[in-house]
Parts: sequence; structure tokens; C-alpha cells
Amino acid sequence: MDRFLVILVNGHLSQAELEIVLSKAMIEFKIIEKNEIFVILEVEKASELLKLGGIYKVGGIICMNNSLERIFDEIEQDGTLTNLEDKQQWNVSYYSDEMIDIDVFDEIQSNFAGLIKESSRKTKFIRNNMKSDNFIELSVDKEREGAVNILVGNSNEKYYIAENKISIKSKDFIDRDLNRPYQDSRISLSPRTARVLVNILGLEDGNTILDPFCGTGTFLMESIIQGYKVIGVDNRKECVFGTKKNLLWIMKEQNLRNRMKYVKQDDAEKLSCVETSTIDGIVTEPILLPHFKNSPNYEIAEDVLKKSKKIYEKSLRAMFRVLKNNGKVSIVTPRIKTRDNNYITFSFRKMVKESGFILDNRLDEQPFVMKASGDQKVLREIWLLKKN
Ligand SMILES: C[S@@+](CC[C@H](N)C(=O)[O-])C[C@H]1O[C@@H](n2cnc3c(N)ncnc32)[C@H](O)[C@@H]1O
Repeated sequence: MDRFLVILVNGHLSQAELEIVLSKAMIEFKIIEKNEIFVILEVEKASELLKLGGIYKVGGIICMNNSLERIFDEIEQDGTLTNLEDKQQWNVSYYSDEMIDIDVFDEIQSNFAGLIKESSRKTKFIRNNMKSDNFIELSVDKEREGAVNILVGNSNEKYYIAENKISIKSKDFIDRDLNRPYQDSRISLSPRTARVLVNILGLEDGNTILDPFCGTGTFLMESIIQGYKVIGVDNRKECVFGTKKNLLWIMKEQNLRNRMKYVKQDDAEKLSCVETSTIDGIVTEPILLPHFKNSPNYEIAEDVLKKSKKIYEKSLRAMFRVLKNNGKVSIVTPRIKTRDNNYITFSFRKMVKESGFILDNRLDEQPFVMKASGDQKVLREIWLLKKN
């Protein structure tokens, strides 16, 4: 099996997606090292990773070592990363599970620059365009055809050097988001995130997925692409029409047939239009909290959560009824950042137990939490439940 450095979008959630998708496809794999930023993966068939929404880059590992000196000896001897063609472009991205040490990154980059200069002429360096505490990188959407993209992972004082082989570009996801006939950016989440939540259900091809709060149908579009049949429910007529349009559009785009069972206007707290024990999986984001310009104080946050809690309670019971035994649910709940920088949420764990579901043991009793962007006031928690 070949060894890869896989760069994750969302830490544990992305790891879970990766493990679930590879296990479902019965592909042999082994995780050698894992942290919030990347995993080192041995896998029989890396192309299966193209189905994931939760990874950015997959690099074939050239060498790994604790000593940078030895690493550069090996890279020089190997020559794959340094013997470039005339005018070929190159770049180095760096990922670490600790705070990036910029001096180490500079050292790595200048070592590459030295080796490349010695072996090739007139190559062109591409500057990184993204930086955070844990990475400095060229984003997948800025990668250029024919360029050598070198990935360096650093964890537990070990360095992993890889050449990027697969990039999961945001372009396809963004195009789907912007080209579909019915759009409402106030309620919909990104197709990339939707893909992850569909994948962690780990269902069999042809199974039926329901979204009881379907909105614009983002989850259902990704479900269709991943080989499932879908049912949508929303209590707003406009969303029912819109979702139908989007699902017909995606089936045409992807040349797929007979994937939409029905989309109906109904109350998710009852789900009267869905027969008992007929659904294999549910993927949903029930409630979008109001957009807070500034972080709310504790009392306001608690009040908002209290209102949405009731909808979760009732709809969980309805979801339990329509699911088959062993059916799964992947569901988003909100976590609010209050003015005093605390996070509050409702006791979803208790609600889950009362409705008869059990938490998937991957969660370890805690939800996955989606990475927040900048000053985001409401974060998404992701739960994976099972009817048992
Ligand atoms: C957060 S949005 C879901 C957005 C969806 N995930 C998407 O990407 O477009 C929640 C949706 O639930 C619908 N909704 C709210 N309460 C409902 C209820 N009791 N029954 C059915 N739908 C409901 C709203 O109309 C809204 O479209």
C-alpha cells in the first residue's frame, strides 16, 4: 500500500468521513498518524478519496524523518521533487499540529530552493496565499497545471515530505452552489459541508436519505451525486418547489435518473407524509439561528436556544419513527458564542437519549465542531445518531 499525507478541512470530522468512506468501499487502509490538521494514511486505492468533502490535498509521501538534514539528503538523492523541467513552477506548503514555526518553514523552503536551483534551470517559485496558526499554503484553488506542489507535514517532531497528487478543489462545490436554479444563501450551507454530513452516514448505494428541513436541498443534491435516493420535506411551499427544481437540475447535470422519490410540504415535527420505518438515513440542519451582528449576552443566547430546542425535540421523535432499524442521522445543532466569550448550547445529548436514539461511538459523547471562520457567532456542532 502507498503512503499519503492527507490535509484535513475539519479535524476529527474529516477523519471520521475518511474512515467511514474507505470502510464502506471495502478499501484496505491504515492510519499511521493523525492530528487535527492531517493524517498519514496507507491506502490501497487513493482515488476513492475524491468522494470526500472534508479533505483538501493528498500527497504521495517521498520521505519522512525526525531530522531535516537527513530529509534533505534523501530528497536530493531521490530527485523527484527537485529535478524540475525548464520553467516548471513549484511551491512548498507547510502544515503542523502545533503553532507554525516560521523559521523552520523558511529553512525548509530555502533548502528546496537550493536543491532545485542546483538541478534545474529557470524554474519559477509560486508564493503561498494562505496562512494560519497551523499552516502556510498555496490554496487548492490557486494551484497551477504542471506545477510541483510540495507538501510538508510536521507532527511530534517528525517531518513528512510529499508531492501533491490529488486536490479536492472547491470549484465544483462552488459552481454547484452558484449555478443551481433555486438559491437562498441565508439558509443554505455549503455543498462541501453537506457532502461530509452525507458521507458520515456510511450508507449503502441506492439507500434512501431524507432531509426533513430541506430548504434549498443542498444535502439532497450531494446525496444524489453520492448514489442515494432522496426524500425532501419543508414546511414552506417555496422551498419545496425550489428543492424539486434543484434536484431535477443536478440529475440532469450528472446524467442520473430516478433518484428523487418525492419532495413534499409537511411539518418535520410530524412527518405525516413519510411512512414508518422506511428511511435508511437522515441528514439535516433544522434551525438557523438569527444572524447576530455582535455576540449576544447569555440571556439572549439562552432564549434563542430554548425556542429551537422544542423543534429539535419533536422532530427527533418523528425522525425516529420513519427510520428503519439501524438507520442513521447526521444532524447539525447550534453553539453560540456569548459576549463574555463562552459557548452555550442546549443539552442535545439528553434529548437524543429521550428520543430513543444512541450516539455513534465515534463521537465519544462529544459532537464534532465545524471550524469557525473569523468572528462567527454561531458554530455548527455535528452529531451522528443511530436507531438501535
Ligand atoms: C436551516 S434551513 C435548511 C437549509 C438547507 N440545509 C439548505 O442547505 O438549503 C431550515 C429549513 O427548515 C424549514 N423548516 C422550519 N421549520 C420547519 C418545520 N417545522 N417543518 C418543516 N420544515 C421546517 C425552513 O423553511 C427552512 O427551509
